[in-house]
Amino acid sequence: FVYGNIISTRKIDRFFAPTSYEACIYTFPDEFEFGCATSSYQVEGAWDVDGKGENIWDYMTHTDPGVITDNNNGDIACNAYYKTEEDVELLENLGVDFYRFSLSWSRILPGGHANFTNPAGIDYYNGLIDALLAKGITPLVTLFHWDLPQPLQEIGGWTSPLLVDLFVDYAEVIFQRFGDRVKNWITFNEPYQICQEGYSEHNKAPLYTQDGIGGYLCAYTVLMAHAKTYEIYQSRYNSDKEGKMGITVHGIWSHPQDINSDADKEASESKLQAHFGIYLHPIYSEEGNFPPSFIERVDRLSAEEGFPWSRLPKFTQEEIDLLKGSADFLGFNHYATDLCYALSADETRRPSHEYDSGARCYKSDMWESAASSWVKVVPWGFRKLLHWIKEQYNNPEVVVTENGFSTFGNDVTDCRRINYYNVYLEALLQAIYEDGCKITKYTAWSFLDNFEWMDGYLEKFGLHSIDFNDPNRPRTAKMSSYVYNNIITTRKINR
Ligand code: NOJ
Repeated sequence: FVYGNIISTRKIDRFFAPTSYEACIYTFPDEFEFGCATSSYQVEGAWDVDGKGENIWDYMTHTDPGVITDNNNGDIACNAYYKTEEDVELLENLGVDFYRFSLSWSRILPGGHANFTNPAGIDYYNGLIDALLAKGITPLVTLFHWDLPQPLQEIGGWTSPLLVDLFVDYAEVIFQRFGDRVKNWITFNEPYQICQEGYSEHNKAPLYTQDGIGGYLCAYTVLMAHAKTYEIYQSRYNSDKEGKMGITVHGIWSHPQDINSDADKEASESKLQAHFGIYLHPIYSEEGNFPPSFIERVDRLSAEEGFPWSRLPKFTQEEIDLLKGSADFLGFNHYATDLCYALSADETRRPSHEYDSGARCYKSDMWESAASSWVKVVPWGFRKLLHWIKEQYNNPEVVVTENGFSTFGNDVTDCRRINYYNVYLEALLQAIYEDGCKITKYTAWSFLDNFEWMDGYLEKFGLHSIDFNDPNRPRTAKMSSYVYNNIITTRKINR
């Protein structure tokens, strides 16, 4: 039974058994691209060499090492700063079409300001970009993956609107130095984690706790920095229109705890808008603003709580015009699904993002868990969220910029990761062929085991294992890297 060019055994009469292996094979569209990803602080190391400045993760892990589960830090990380040649060879073996990595702002502008550019930082990234291109691997570059220069934190970090122009200045240095060769850009990785976890929930540097306020101030700054960067890139640096730029947002599928309950359905939708739509709606919807239901709710709650203003910042008409349509694709990181129910009216009230979302969510114990307790194997949630994006934002081009599974220990026979990639890629193909979603790229997280933020080196997402006891950080390919290579080269998943 053929859907598009997917050969599915699903809708076939249940007494039919596939007679050939081919009948169980799913094929990717011809133009579909595969990659894998890392980020600067998680892999580079060399935290203070060759003129690099201090960033908020250097600062936090050095002043308060106990906040990281294994008391560790990214000082050496995967030592990638010294391993360009070896890593590019591994990427070539993997057969990826592109490599997603991020730039360290403080390696390029040690003080955060564009008044001094560090030549060694520019050399390092030039070396990496050129080595990738020489092997036919396209760089997909993230401008900001959480490692803010510490001097900019000291003026308020992302809660300060000053960061809009400081980010644009940084981005312009990047476009001038690398824009001749890099054509694929992501401005920000996961604004929810930057803003909500960093400025409201004490779960990422700089560990602020202003719930219901800090995260929203940050959201405003990050979104405006994104929009201005997009505008400047298009008007000054992309005259041949070859460049493409998007933002990457982390999305959890929110599923009603009881699918027959209207209250749970409403809570799930409200949670999606509060968690995901808050960053996507301003850019990808017709309105160019936060989701209307979310604005209404936070404005109302703020008034009830006695605030003289809404806790959710307001965009001016000029800002709305700049935000609307400020992306060529939608970057989507996905790992998890939640079950959600409505918060009851007698909940203890306090200004908080959870209350603003109107929902409480949790993960089912029935789902297979990764080492990271928030990562569960729920491929249908991935498909549902891809479909939700299509419906909400008029079927934009979607680049899956991260998806992956964590394990503990150094086992290179990583069957559970292999299974995860297979079932998630199957869900992605169903989203393409059966739901009509426009998904053009898939990125495995991660190329290497690396520094998993607050969880240090304990939770490992890599296609390659690293011996973190050896200062040179030798790499070993896991079985999943061979399977991923097989998927890329055959353009099929085998189920
Ligand atoms: C998303 C983040 O972008 C990445 O840095 C992190 O390591 C993975 N999720 C896994 O938690």
